[in-house]
Amino acid sequence: MAHSGEVRWTSPSNIALIKYWGKHGRQLPRNPSISFTLSNCVTDTTVNYLIDEKLDALNIDFYFEGKANQAFGSRIETFLSSITDHLPWLNTAQLKVESSNSFPHSSGIASSASAMSALAMCLVDINQTILGNPNLNMTLASELSRLGSGSASRSTIPLLGQWGKCEIEGSSDNFAIPYGNAIDQIFHTYHDDICIVSADEKSVSSSAGHSLMDKSVFAQQRYEQAGQRLYSLVEAMRKGDLETFGPIVEDEALTLHGLMLCSEPSFVLMEPNTISIINAIRAYREETGTPVYFTLDAGPNIHMLYPHAYADQIAKWSEQVIKPLCHNGRIIKDIVGNGPKKLK
Ligand code: PMV
Repeated sequence: MAHSGEVRWTSPSNIALIKYWGKHGRQLPRNPSISFTLSNCVTDTTVNYLIDEKLDALNIDFYFEGKANQAFGSRIETFLSSITDHLPWLNTAQLKVESSNSFPHSSGIASSASAMSALAMCLVDINQTILGNPNLNMTLASELSRLGSGSASRSTIPLLGQWGKCEIEGSSDNFAIPYGNAIDQIFHTYHDDICIVSADEKSVSSSAGHSLMDKSVFAQQRYEQAGQRLYSLVEAMRKGDLETFGPIVEDEALTLHGLMLCSEPSFVLMEPNTISIINAIRAYREETGTPVYFTLDAGPNIHMLYPHAYADQIAKWSEQVIKPLCHNGRIIKDIVGNGPKKLK
């Protein structure tokens, strides 16, 4: 029987508190990770589909922000062709995929987590229609997201997504699981102000970055450290203990950058203003006791993390101190969120 229709989902970006760095096999993590799911930085994806046994191959047209995009299209085609063991109907599918981001394209924000999870949500939605299932398979959504981009597995999870086998019950290398219900309320409305230091393309792709770990002399210690830190972090989050939470998060970001500084070849991904913002955050915290901490992705931009109760106070300070250190004064304000949403 042929199936046709259209599905539309948004899915957010996420920011890792314990970083996934190093992978093996079919996009499996070398260490467990955990992240806040964001709200405002989302990818909006519509998939128009015709599935018909008479079609003898997968065919895809891809549009990014309204324009046909060959480069992204072929990455998506490679991804879809790699998951036909999960979704055999992809072998006889004609798809038109239209995607756009809520955040500016060249803002230095990694979009693969939101993009791959939004696409995975559309695919799982179509799969549900084909199988006639009443429930959306969210485990499959996380697993397919992971196969697209490892960290995307966590974007399908509300509030706090944990990915990678560890001491947490139900954890898996194949998909992420929710941990948000186990944490203090203070983290349910946590803020992430993304301070854009540079909007340039990343100088090292995340795949190339992960593969640097294969040759790192620190690899084994690092994988163990991530597991131990994750355990201490979730304990602190359960108790709402910001004085334990914050330093772990900062150490994680600096460890990630430290690993890249001493990898072969070496990468310096921070910019001078990245360091200036780190110093400004630390000085402000020491002077005022405000619990604001930073983290970084594999790039120069600073994610400033703090509880909602401090939002007004931090906005005044950051307007004066942090904004002038950002590229075109750009700070993207985000907050912890509930994961993917279906749109009509
Ligand atoms: O999902 P990838 O392959 O783009 O890797 C993401 C790696 C980091 O963003 C640096 C850390 C993380 O856990 O998100």
